Amino acid sequence: MNVTDAKFVQGFVRMCSDGWEQGWHERNGGNLTYRMKPEEAQEVMPLLDRTRPWQPIGADVPGLAGEFFMVTGSGKFFRNAVLDPADTTAIIEIDDSGKNYRICWGLVNGGRPTSELPSHLMNHEVKKEISGGRHRVIYHAHTPNTIALTFVLPLKDEVFTREIWEMMTECPVIFPDGIGVVDWMVPGGREIAVVTSELMKKYDVAVWAHHGMFCSGEDFDTTFGLMHTVEKSAQILLKVLSVSPVKRQTITARNFRDLAEAFHVTLPERFLYEKQAEEE
Ligand code: 13P
Ligand code: ZN
Repeated sequence: MNVTDAKFVQGFVRMCSDGWEQGWHERNGGNLTYRMKPEEAQEVMPLLDRTRPWQPIGADVPGLAGEFFMVTGSGKFFRNAVLDPADTTAIIEIDDSGKNYRICWGLVNGGRPTSELPSHLMNHEVKKEISGGRHRVIYHAHTPNTIALTFVLPLKDEVFTREIWEMMTECPVIFPDGIGVVDWMVPGGREIAVVTSELMKKYDVAVWAHHGMFCSGEDFDTTFGLMHTVEKSAQILLKVLSVSPVKRQTITARNFRDLAEAFHVTLPERFLYEKQAEEE
């Protein structure tokens, strides 16, 4: 068996291709990490090299001590992941302190894990805890419609959530907790990781102003589907705003309450504010 035969590896590279086909991964844009299940780590363990030196993560994630992750490489192109996973991706192990990682497989032509590793791992730590271990995927993409909205909407969780929910009826059912927004920050470090992981305590989606989006989910399908849903709604909103700054009709706060009841979801009240001018 090769590592690339493992089902989780195939799911990982398929997600890279799917994101590339959506136009979310120009050049090396975006990154993906997956917290492997114990049985998946076990399956590939004989093929891992666990002798390489430990490297600092740049963040403390004690809640992930001993975990194995599949990650995209820094500077690697999503477009190429399916052609050569061993060059473009890696499997890493986290040490007992949660401060260091080592590469156990992949990046065969050199390189290191994504520069957003601190954000990914801090998000994983938060989501692992909150979801009781169910969330395993953190995905960052450069989604053009959502990025465009960060130039015209106020950078507020309440506004992004409500405006994006309004564009497709099923949005609040898919992400009932809403969307968090991070002001423009320097990417790739601990500071943006701290702010993003704080939002991940409340949301499965965080928008980085003028940069892209982070999504968290249980598996590749639901995480990709979440990113896809938010981005598609952002696209509809841009179409609407391009035609008219005012909506003639929309899904109202009252409609959202009816939807919540019918679909048995709880929608936080702070997203259901009245928008007088548009709802009359
Ligand atoms: P990496 O190539 O280091 O993953 O960086 C891409 C990116 O999107 C940074 O935010
Ligand atoms: Zn990015």
